[in-house]
Amino acid sequence: MSRIEQLSDSVTLYLGDCREILPTLGKVDAVVTDPPYGIGASSGVGKYGRQKFQKTDKGWDASTPDGSVIDAILAKAPACVMWGMNYFRLPPTRRYLVWDKGAGFKNRDFAECELAWCSIDGNARVLTRDPLARGDYAQKLHPTQKPVPVMEWSIQQLGGGIAMVLDPFMGSGTTGVACVRLGRRFIGIEIDPGYFDIACRRISDELNAPRLGLDIVPPPSQQEALGL
Ligand SMILES: C[S@@+](CC[C@H](N)C(=O)[O-])C[C@H]1O[C@@H](n2cnc3c(N)ncnc32)[C@H](O)[C@@H]1O
Repeated sequence: MSRIEQLSDSVTLYLGDCREILPTLGKVDAVVTDPPYGIGASSGVGKYGRQKFQKTDKGWDASTPDGSVIDAILAKAPACVMWGMNYFRLPPTRRYLVWDKGAGFKNRDFAECELAWCSIDGNARVLTRDPLARGDYAQKLHPTQKPVPVMEWSIQQLGGGIAMVLDPFMGSGTTGVACVRLGRRFIGIEIDPGYFDIACRRISDELNAPRLGLDIVPPPSQQEALGL
């Protein structure tokens, strides 16, 4: 692990490989994340996309078809939202989340929607939000950056009692910004130093942003509530 930034009492960011950092962390209330799509599939995208996460005594095993990081992530929390669900082997769920990107993405060379797996049982949900029309990407700092409202909505789908959220693939820190806006504690991990710095800056800016007197008190952590 090469760097830890404690941005506030409620935000801790790790620069490093989540395969090494996850085993050092305790449990959280929820994992809300958007992993690189190659990690559990035969094809990968991007510099860090084609990874296998099976640890063996010889190091990281590149021969398994699916990565155990998915299991490691699911073991970290009783609740999880995982974007890119169609790229990973996950247990069946009744509740998946659909981000319908809206008219702005029709007839473009992009997917018109994205899918997330949600561990909390319930009906499937759709968020219609056109990030181009709404200007969510005015500061697009990462090639697969999610709009902050999409990650806020993702956290809200997990219901009350989610005080501590972990994103082991935080990229430019969108989940962290969403957590600050919603008054949740946040742990983020990012392997790329450039994106890590961007995440630090974005989340710091959000922590320092005026709150207009609307101080949000985080709900008690499920772990705290259970006395764990
Ligand atoms: C799909 S992007 C996340 C984008 C993010 N949702 C945002 O809005 O900026 C996945 C991120 O995971 C990072 N990553 C890939 N492998 C990693 C690993 N083993 N540990 C930590 N981060 C990793 C990549 O560098 C990339 O920034």
